[in-house]
Amino acid sequence: MDARSIERVYDRYARFYDRVFGGVFEPGRVAAAQDLDVRPGDRVLEVGVGTGLSLARYPRSCQVVGIDVSDGMLGRAARQVHARGLRNVQLVRMDAQAMAFDDDSFDVVVAAYVMTVIPDFRRALDEMARVCRPNGRMLIINHFTNGNPLVRTIEKAISPICERLGWRSDLAVADLLDGAPLRLVREKRLAPLGMWYLLDCVNAKREVQSAPREPGVPLAISRAAASSAQASR
Ligand SMILES: C[S@@+](CC[C@H](N)C(=O)[O-])C[C@H]1O[C@@H](n2cnc3c(N)ncnc32)[C@H](O)[C@@H]1O
Repeated sequence: MDARSIERVYDRYARFYDRVFGGVFEPGRVAAAQDLDVRPGDRVLEVGVGTGLSLARYPRSCQVVGIDVSDGMLGRAARQVHARGLRNVQLVRMDAQAMAFDDDSFDVVVAAYVMTVIPDFRRALDEMARVCRPNGRMLIINHFTNGNPLVRTIEKAISPICERLGWRSDLAVADLLDGAPLRLVREKRLAPLGMWYLLDCVNAKREVQSAPREPGVPLAISRAAASSAQASR
């Protein structure tokens, strides 16, 4: 699905999103908030902020910017901000694949249930690393295919339907992180059914830039980290 179609789909979802996806995605939002470990004054970016269901969980002492491409979703998020008096939150309509922020603008970047929605998730991940400071935290919450052959077959089969609904169902953690300038430090499976994951990553963009490497094999760090984390499960 192209970017314009995704905007349209989520503009339509906005009215009932909280009722349908509010509860089912809640364990991931709770886990992210528990693991956030932000310090007063930290700058936090939430990518694909949606209707703003996570916004009240960030400590008021940090500055939060939420971006999204859907005006409908952002409109709902603005209501949350207003209703809860979240003066530390700013909402901006922006595409995660081409952000207008300067390099190293944020200490923490959170992306909940958005990586499988963004058409070019690699570009978005590179952008997230660019705007996050070196060694900053990057928390990614999403459904990822878990390697079970039966589940994988079903996921592949329903992938065209999911795409029409606005997300893909067949992305694996290793595919997401392959070549990305991130170091995966912890991977946690989430309820319901352990089909969702919290990936706790460190922004390794400086390590990647300074690491000696073969031409054409640019970013091996995350690939090694992803496979070792998967092997340790
Ligand atoms: C499944 S919703 C998740 C919303 C929220 N993070 C949550 O926890 O409920 C995915 C969100 O990502 C947004 N989105 C999709 N593509 C995007 C992009 N390229 N840049 C920024 N946001 C995007 C959608 O508009 C939608 O609000």
